[in-house]
Amino acid sequence: MSGKKIVLTGMQPTGKLHLGNLLGAINNWRRMLDGYDCLFFLADQHAITMPHIPAELRKNTADCVAQYIACGLDPARCKIFLQSQVIGHTELMWILSCLTPIGQLERMTQFKDKSKKIGESLCSGLLFYPVLMAADILLYGADFVPVGEDQKQHLEVTRDIAQKFNNTYSETFTVPEPHIGQAGARVMSLQNPLAKMSKSEKNQNGLIGVADSDDLIRKKIAAAVTDSGGTIEFDEVNKPGISNLLNIYAAVAEVSVGEAVEQFSSLGNYAPFKRIVADAIVAKIAPIREKYGEIAGDREYLLSVFRAGREDAQRRANKMMAKVYRKVGFVIE
Ligand code: TRP
Repeated sequence: MSGKKIVLTGMQPTGKLHLGNLLGAINNWRRMLDGYDCLFFLADQHAITMPHIPAELRKNTADCVAQYIACGLDPARCKIFLQSQVIGHTELMWILSCLTPIGQLERMTQFKDKSKKIGESLCSGLLFYPVLMAADILLYGADFVPVGEDQKQHLEVTRDIAQKFNNTYSETFTVPEPHIGQAGARVMSLQNPLAKMSKSEKNQNGLIGVADSDDLIRKKIAAAVTDSGGTIEFDEVNKPGISNLLNIYAAVAEVSVGEAVEQFSSLGNYAPFKRIVADAIVAKIAPIREKYGEIAGDREYLLSVFRAGREDAQRRANKMMAKVYRKVGFVIE
């Protein structure tokens, strides 16, 4: 497509996106929509490495896509598809796994953490998780992969595997670079501002979902943990709660943290500050929630997005797989 560099990223189909996803990641992807050939997919094949309920996976996948679109991933300006709908990801994974030392996979932090917790019964899919991820990326010749801190190690493996394949057979794969976006807001939990806002949080008051009602948002902000002393200052060490709210406000109101501090410094206590922060979040989230509702209710539209994404992705995948099969020596007619 038009000589633009290719950006690709995968998302696990979690049920609910939150403010941290929006301000930390999605906003960065959105900024790339016009300058790059953007491919986004739901990593449903990765999702089954952990125990799951099939009906929930199916529903979460559709819901999640609807939320991504509502957050601004406009399917007219990018491709959105489901990993399991494109033939090639697992085929390429097999070929790449034959070049990947077991030792390297056993040393992955995510694998080590999970095997420490679960032990010998851990499924082997978790060991191969990074190889599938490498296949996702190399299949499409991605130049840039926007990934969070926790996935950087997997991208390193992808680069190693690409180089190994290129050296073993001949130049085939683009060696992808991580894409570090504009410093997105680091959104912390409203209940524990020392930890990142996360979907796995036990206390649901800690996160704001992109589909939360105005009332719920206001309640959660009112209940957000603050710090002692009534002054509104940006100090992440001594005032993590207030600093988190300032960060969030700056991101949703699109002002700098400095401007936010200035705006609020004359307020003598936290209650009016929290009300203004809540208003700004509501102003940002309400249109997203409404759009999400419309999209989620329009099955035909969602299916058409999947269909268009799948067709485009399959065309690219077929081309790459033909090349790969030829290089490794498989008989092709
Ligand atoms: N493992 C990634 C995550 O959990 C999701 C993912 C799968 C991915 N394949 C990918 C991300 C390829 C980037 C590129 O966040």
